[in-house]
Amino acid sequence: MERRKFLRFLSILLATFLIFFIFNKNSDLPSSKNYHSVVNKAAVELELQPPPRKLTRHVHESDVAHHPLDPLTVQELNQVRSMITSHVLFKGAKYYAFHSVVLEEPLKTRVIRWKEGDPLPSRKASVIARVDGVTHVLRVGLSSGRVEKVDVGKLSGYPTMTIEDMNTATFTPLVSAEFNQTVKERGVDLKDLACLPISLGWYGKKEENRRLIKVQCYSMEDTANFYMRPIEGLTVIVDMDTNQVVEISDNGRDIPIPKAANTEYRFSAQKKLRQKLKPINPISIEQSKGPSFTVENGHMVKWANWEFHLKPDPRAGVIISRAMFRDPDNGELRNVMYKGMTSELFVPYMDPSDAWYFKTYMDAGEYGFGLEAMPLDPLNDCPRNAYYMDGVFAAGDGRPYVRSNMVCVFESYTGDIGWRHSESPITGLEIREARPKVTLVVRMAASVANYDYIVDWEFQSDGLIKIKVGLSGILMVKGTPYTNTNQVSNQEDLYGTLLSENVIGVIHDHYITFYLDMDVDGSDNSFVKVNLQRQQTSPGESPRTSYLKATRSVAKTEKEAQIKLKLYDPYEFHVVNPNKKTRLGNPVGYKVVPAGTAAILLDHDDPPQRRGAFTNNQIWVTPYNRSEEWAGGLFAYQNQGEDNLATWSERDREIENKDIVLWYTLGFHHIPCQEDFPIMPTVSSSFSLKPVNFFERNPILEIPPNFEKDLPVCQPATSTS
Ligand SMILES: *[C@@H]1O[C@H](CO)[C@@H](O)[C@H](O)[C@H]1NC(C)=O
Ligand SMILES: *[C@@H]1O[C@H](CO)[C@@H](O)[C@H](O)[C@H]1NC(C)=O
Repeated sequence: MERRKFLRFLSILLATFLIFFIFNKNSDLPSSKNYHSVVNKAAVELELQPPPRKLTRHVHESDVAHHPLDPLTVQELNQVRSMITSHVLFKGAKYYAFHSVVLEEPLKTRVIRWKEGDPLPSRKASVIARVDGVTHVLRVGLSSGRVEKVDVGKLSGYPTMTIEDMNTATFTPLVSAEFNQTVKERGVDLKDLACLPISLGWYGKKEENRRLIKVQCYSMEDTANFYMRPIEGLTVIVDMDTNQVVEISDNGRDIPIPKAANTEYRFSAQKKLRQKLKPINPISIEQSKGPSFTVENGHMVKWANWEFHLKPDPRAGVIISRAMFRDPDNGELRNVMYKGMTSELFVPYMDPSDAWYFKTYMDAGEYGFGLEAMPLDPLNDCPRNAYYMDGVFAAGDGRPYVRSNMVCVFESYTGDIGWRHSESPITGLEIREARPKVTLVVRMAASVANYDYIVDWEFQSDGLIKIKVGLSGILMVKGTPYTNTNQVSNQEDLYGTLLSENVIGVIHDHYITFYLDMDVDGSDNSFVKVNLQRQQTSPGESPRTSYLKATRSVAKTEKEAQIKLKLYDPYEFHVVNPNKKTRLGNPVGYKVVPAGTAAILLDHDDPPQRRGAFTNNQIWVTPYNRSEEWAGGLFAYQNQGEDNLATWSERDREIENKDIVLWYTLGFHHIPCQEDFPIMPTVSSSFSLKPVNFFERNPILEIPPNFEKDLPVCQPATSTS
């Protein structure tokens, strides 16, 4: 073997060994089997092709925090675990589990004061644990060695499930002979059974004082897409603290289990391309001079004029902090957003029947949007020029584990135009000016059981931030005796669409609520509603009878900032800094720009909507309060909706010229269609945060156009050499 080849072989061997070492150390993690297969695949890819820029081979054991907002490191998580488990509360306990172990972020003022090179503010962990059936919130001082109980008041609900909770729940029904019996009677071999843990919400007494979950099952026989083969009507209520079966509801025995045929979506399981499907040649982005962004000290991303801190989070998915833009005019680094994240999701299904009414998920607070984010698939989830970041989280026993390649960062050029102008021949000026639009994308994708959510934070060089959510994955479907719509007298009574023989795609909504702590040139900001109103001209004033006028009003209190979008009463929504004006006297600001979205139509006092009340408006503005970050409440699981964004906002606190937080909810109505079977092509929507009088002029006036000589030329290769 040549020396270079040998060295490469050696490094692959070493990397593989290290990875196995890390994963084996955490092999008590219930889903560690899946990790092994991912790691194996990655190692093989490394041998076959030049490695992408960073297929994470980072060993996290020796990570240290560099920034006040850096997530807890492996060492810190281990320290928290040993401090907690030797605490009196835990020592004599029969049972305990860690539901959340994350950095307790230092006070905002402290973080803002901090400069690179300063010592870090003392590191603290915020722990949510359940001990013998009681939830505790604890603050753990990593340098002080102190463990304190945090009083969060009396809240209904439970913390986010652990991965172990979800896993255990899916197997618990098997302790019941009655369950086994009915599964067998429906013709499903127990070895082909796949079950899902389904949060059950809150509907009254039955869902109180016990941490419960509903389990429903599917047949995996002859398909990996078991979601398309529901054992309809069979619902098992499981107590997650005692692992007991509480109740079995066994309806729908007359509903056949849909066939496995045509449900597969894996590439390896596809037969030859259908004859008429024209293939597309491979496509990729080349950056001959390398990327233009850096990720410093693990979490600080710098690209074009942007700088921000990026971290994976078990509940939010990703958190963007301290987003700042360097003003091209004076080189000053200006604050835009202190913190932005997915705060909560709400996914109510629209079928009130026994096996379906409770399906009203809150994916962040119940399941952990970050916990559900699986490793991204290089080349397909993110382009070849992507950089990957791992999540380091705590398992239910408090031990750290690594979720590799959880987030990717890449520069994107989709052929869009940054700005342009051409002169027509009338002026005699031969002007053709156009600039390409290149952006920086931060991406994560959560697979909350069947459904996949892709969340992109896309930064533009002109200061705009676009937040995009894509929905893909597999529908949650319902079994039915029907195989054709001609068997149904009124299709509208199906609660959805017949997608395949015996399969109904049930109508549902998706709401994704974002927490956006805007700090436009400083923390004290105001929320301004700019209303476009029709004005009538006076008789004789003008040949026109009407025109539009923009009127501005500053929201003084929270209730004035509860916004429902209206097409025929249009507004712009600005977050401005009233204390800072442009050269011309306009207050500097950013506006939230909605795009295609949907609004909740359920009764406000429908039990799921009481819990999902944070979706009652598309926009809310609250005064900054570090205890108010999770729109559905700190304990979203099974809560009664008494503590969420809607109840906070009802306090009607003052928000003018104060540190304020903007909340935006992006919504989708989804009436499934046949194209969504057996897996959904991605559907996306977005909203933007756009500078409005933030800059003195077009901030990307000087960016150069593309020149042929600067661009890499890739020739089709005849052979690989
Ligand atoms: C139900 O079936 C599973 C899988 O075959 C088995 O492990 C379990 O013991 C059965 N439960 C009962 C109560 O028989
Ligand atoms: C901050 O939030 C907590 C939780 O909602 C609340 O109890 C407290 O009153 C809030 N503080 C202020 C000043 O609004």
